[in-house]
Amino acid sequence: MAGKKVIITGVPGVGKTTVINEALSKLKSEGVEYKTINFGSFMFEVAKNEGLVENRDQMRSLDRTDQKRLQQRAAQAIAQIPGNVMIDTHASVKTPKGYLAGLPEWVLREIMPDMIILVETDNDQILMRRITDETRSRDKEGARAIAEHQEFNRSIAAAYAMATGCTIKLITNADHLLDLAATEMADALR
Ligand code: AP5
Repeated sequence: MAGKKVIITGVPGVGKTTVINEALSKLKSEGVEYKTINFGSFMFEVAKNEGLVENRDQMRSLDRTDQKRLQQRAAQAIAQIPGNVMIDTHASVKTPKGYLAGLPEWVLREIMPDMIILVETDNDQILMRRITDETRSRDKEGARAIAEHQEFNRSIAAAYAMATGCTIKLITNADHLLDLAATEMADALR
């Protein structure tokens, strides 16, 4: 039987990777397994080998043609992975020239997801998480700009659902309520 393909998205700093790790540890104890794939890591490996970037946060500013080429290569590689696969990526990427679709038609055609999960929370909480995360070079933007990005992601997710027939699941990852978000994600993945 073919495995499930689930795409997890959310604006940078919303905590999607944190929720994924918690949800997977809950599922593992029940024998439900997913391979987690970070779409950005696939893109980054190729971009780094080509000498285009030194860190993953620089990818958002690459030329659009390069970003699209890297997306396509990542999608083709990920499509070959068998079993239940969870793909940690972005519904849209904020670039200096505007929003870039994270899952354009040529990516969706390769992956054909069963479900897209949008991890969200209050804009102020995301702002604080970005400010206090010293491991990354986060975009400096205010709560209003973060709100716009979260709204844009809902809109573009609707287009992805129309194109593939996948479902869209919204999960809130609020401060101090990580376990609730992880439980909701695990329920959706079972
Ligand atoms: P990627 O690495 O996926 O980007 P990212 O947005 O930076 O994702 P992170 O994993 O760093 O953030 P997160 O939201 O998962 O937060 P985290 O769990 O760390 O991709 C890198 C790049 O690849 C992108 O910028 C883009 O250029 C490119 N890319 C990727 N996909 C693409 C695509 N499809 N098309 C084109 N380009 C693409 O948590 C953040 C902080 O919050 C942590 O400090 C954590 O402790 C805290 N936190 C989390 N949950 C809670 C909670 N409940 N309460 C309190 N604090 C919390």
